[in-house]
Amino acid sequence: MEGLAGRVAAAADLVTVALDELLPRADGPEARLTEAMRYAALGPGKRLRTFFALETGKMFDIEERPVLRAACALECIHAYSLIHDDLPCMDDDDERRGRPTVHLAYDEATAVLAGDALQSAAFEILAHPDTHADGSVRCELVAKLAHAAGARGMAGGQMIDIMGVRDDLGGVARMQRLKTGALISCAFELPLVLARAQEAERHALLAFAHDLGLAYQIVDDMLDAEGDPAALGKAVGKDAGKGKANFVTLLGVEAARERLELLAEQTKTHLEPFGNQAEFLRASVDFVLERRN
Ligand code: IPE
Ligand code: IPE
Ligand code: MG
Ligand code: MG
Ligand code: MG
Repeated sequence: MEGLAGRVAAAADLVTVALDELLPRADGPEARLTEAMRYAALGPGKRLRTFFALETGKMFDIEERPVLRAACALECIHAYSLIHDDLPCMDDDDERRGRPTVHLAYDEATAVLAGDALQSAAFEILAHPDTHADGSVRCELVAKLAHAAGARGMAGGQMIDIMGVRDDLGGVARMQRLKTGALISCAFELPLVLARAQEAERHALLAFAHDLGLAYQIVDDMLDAEGDPAALGKAVGKDAGKGKANFVTLLGVEAARERLELLAEQTKTHLEPFGNQAEFLRASVDFVLERRN
């Protein structure tokens, strides 16, 4: 869709500039840590979670600044999750976003600490009065992000991934919902809190987020099976190589693609209550399906 790529790029620019302001500068004896945090968080990510958050904010016509701060917090958690995901004790990857992973650019101890400190930075950003004047709203944002990042969210999903799921689609779907879906849903949850959205709107948008997150991970698994590492900026063949069960190792590429097409249509139906207001979110479904990086 015309304009969508530009909107995604604009969201990426906005969040990168905002994060550059918010993250601690490399200074003092701990400079190595702050440098590694900035290396990871300011690197060339797609910033799709930010795009989803900003689009949701626009749909509810709320002020952009609080949504952008929420997106910064989410990108900090996402960057932390990627640093730790790449560690030798987890996926042991050398390349991320077209550059050496943090533990190679620095060292393992620095990578662990950079992930830890990015997690703290996320909550510091949300808890700051600049995010919202009302402390109870800030508290709600903190609680939502904490849940999405924790044992019943991203970290729990990563645990299931590391332990290995049994070869069944239900298990893979649950793992996905936690490891990737929770943070993607949070990109909608946080602006929904800020917008004081009605329950029916919340319900519809979170159903959209659920299906979109699932589609996102199926595409990630397909790209791992048959993507171009140069375009992806990360290695491919990692999941099959490690004997990991995912949508593609279980279904095969063709069946995964068919499932994805059905899912794409279902995903868009959740946006019907929002009419034209959701045109960019609707178009982002195809964008996610067609992504090559
Ligand atoms: C990669 O996330 C890991 C998954 C959750 C599938 P992204 O595909 O959003 O990575 P970046 O932020 O664009 O690098
Ligand atoms: C990572 O999933 C998800 C999180 C970081 C929470 P993957 O391990 O499949 O992500 P990539 O393929 O390394 O980006
Ligand atoms: Mg992983
Ligand atoms: Mg990985
Ligand atoms: Mg992957």
